[in-house]
Amino acid sequence: MSKIKVMDEILANKIAAGEVIERCSSIVKELVENSIDAKSSKIKIDLIDSGVTEIKVTDDGVGMDEGDALLAFQRHATSKLLSEVDLFNINSLGFRGEALPSIASVSEVSLKTCFDNVGTFILIKGGKLIKKESSDARKGTEITVRKLFYNTPARLKHLSSLYTELAHITDFINKIALSYPSISFILTNDGKTLLNTDGRGNLLKVINSIYGVDVTKKMIEVRNNDDEYDVYGYISMPEVTKSNRNHIITIVNGRVVKNQEINKCINDSYHTYKPDDRYPIVILNIEVDTS
Ligand SMILES: Nc1ncnc2c1ncn2[C@@H]1O[C@H](COP(=O)(O)OP(=O)(O)O)[C@@H](O)[C@H]1O
Ligand SMILES: [Mg+2]
Repeated sequence: MSKIKVMDEILANKIAAGEVIERCSSIVKELVENSIDAKSSKIKIDLIDSGVTEIKVTDDGVGMDEGDALLAFQRHATSKLLSEVDLFNINSLGFRGEALPSIASVSEVSLKTCFDNVGTFILIKGGKLIKKESSDARKGTEITVRKLFYNTPARLKHLSSLYTELAHITDFINKIALSYPSISFILTNDGKTLLNTDGRGNLLKVINSIYGVDVTKKMIEVRNNDDEYDVYGYISMPEVTKSNRNHIITIVNGRVVKNQEINKCINDSYHTYKPDDRYPIVILNIEVDTS
């Protein structure tokens, strides 16, 4: 008798969730990146208890029709990558079609979306479709994730303190807001607003929303370009420093990247103007021509 069996989709998604979703911020990341890929101009993230009780992401993007809304929760279902050729020309943040099915397999997800003025509501729990009905036709998509890890107690136990979960989320949203000044981001936790950017495309204003006016006054604009690279951003004067490197933020084609060489180069350029154990605030957008 053969011993090998193909596992059912819900189980496969639950296992994949182990890789895609580590903590609340992983869910926020996947949902917000989907909203960006959906060409949203305004993205609102509302948390209850740092996301442990509820994460709600509302956008004004392209939305989905009923068929796509259902498909979105199937493994490897994506609108962003259709052929192998596309793999070498990815312009979206997601492409694997794994996030939504993974999230839905370890939580309760409700989705309200709209396309062509027809609204759809879907409720999925533990990967199973519980409800599907028509809904009001508000532009965009609203996804709410509740009861995270309710069916994987070991992972639930491993969530950090509310303080740490929130710190990870804030860090991610701050960086994504700096990467996309033309999108308005609003982050709230238990009804309290933690970040609100206006989406008017002004990077310095985003810096102001995150670091405050005193830091903003001491930021210097930098700009340079050649045939391959377009570099634009702000660096802090040497008297404005932080105790760690986390505020040296380099963004390549809309993605925050950590590159030790670039970081070292930036840090070294401050020479002896700042103490060795202090680090500048730097936000550098690097556009690379990939065509
Ligand atoms: N906020 C959203 N607005 C519009 N479409 C969305 C949104 N979120 C997800 N989708 C659709 O659902 C699909 C699956 O999403 P996901 O599981 O994150 O995979 P991926 O982002 O890798 O394609 C996306 O390709 C997209 O078509
Ligand atoms: Mg995605």
